[in-house]
Amino acid sequence: MRDINQFTITQAVKDSFSAEEGSRFEFLLEKLIDHLHDYTRETNLNHAEWMRVLNFLYDCGKISTPERHEFILLSDVLGFSALVDMINTKGGATEGSNLGPFYLDKAPVKALGDDLADDRDGVSVLAYGKVTDTLHHPLPGAIVDTWQADAAGSYPIQEQEQGQDKYDLRGVFTTNEKGEYYYTTVLPKPYTVPYDGPVGELLRAGKRNAWRAAHLHYIVRAEGMQDITTEVFFENTEYLDGDAVFGVRKSLITKLEPVKEEELAGLDLKQKPDAKFKFDFVLAPQ
Ligand code: BEZ
Ligand code: FE
Repeated sequence: MRDINQFTITQAVKDSFSAEEGSRFEFLLEKLIDHLHDYTRETNLNHAEWMRVLNFLYDCGKISTPERHEFILLSDVLGFSALVDMINTKGGATEGSNLGPFYLDKAPVKALGDDLADDRDGVSVLAYGKVTDTLHHPLPGAIVDTWQADAAGSYPIQEQEQGQDKYDLRGVFTTNEKGEYYYTTVLPKPYTVPYDGPVGELLRAGKRNAWRAAHLHYIVRAEGMQDITTEVFFENTEYLDGDAVFGVRKSLITKLEPVKEEELAGLDLKQKPDAKFKFDFVLAPQ
């Protein structure tokens, strides 16, 4: 240990741990040490730069609260969250995308045909599609849990001080016997990720955009299948190519289309939509 230098220190640090041999924990820890040490050697990091990193992480911790997790945002803007989503997408299943910070457990249970918008301003859209397995068999009784921003790009949960109910613009639907879901809502608008903290400083320093492309969030579950957490985007909308958290994938972009009166027969909608979009979710077996 005394005969240590910038090349032998990496192994010495790894040897200082006695994690269970062959465990996942040991593997992850050793890789982390390897990569951090390589980064430090490759960049010739100086004391001022290293202190800047530590202070940045300290600031991320300081601004974090149960409602605001700055490290998740950091992971998002550096593409780590997207990378984990990509690595964990199962072959043939719908691609995963950001959970984001606004998911709420126990959103209101809704019936097919319900409207999530409750008289909000904006374009009313019919969201519809199927949930199937990777062999295209419909999955009746699948859960489609959705949440979204309004037509001004705000989540009601962010506007509770202005009297908004945090459970607005979200709902949990169950697919019918054909694996179908359908409901109406308001078309969401783009919004920025929070940029009044250290991550915002990073975005400004790197001349980065803080905007997210307009999207709807979904978690889709069915018995015996792997859950997916994903987002649906709209063709020809802003920031599809500059989404601040790298959430957009080609397969997650849908198209807004006009609705014909006759298509609505039998859907028992509570709100007449101005437009519609279709998105089918595909789940892989567990
Ligand atoms: C969102 O999609 O709601 C979101 C994702 C990452 C950071 C901030 C917001
Ligand atoms: Fe979002």
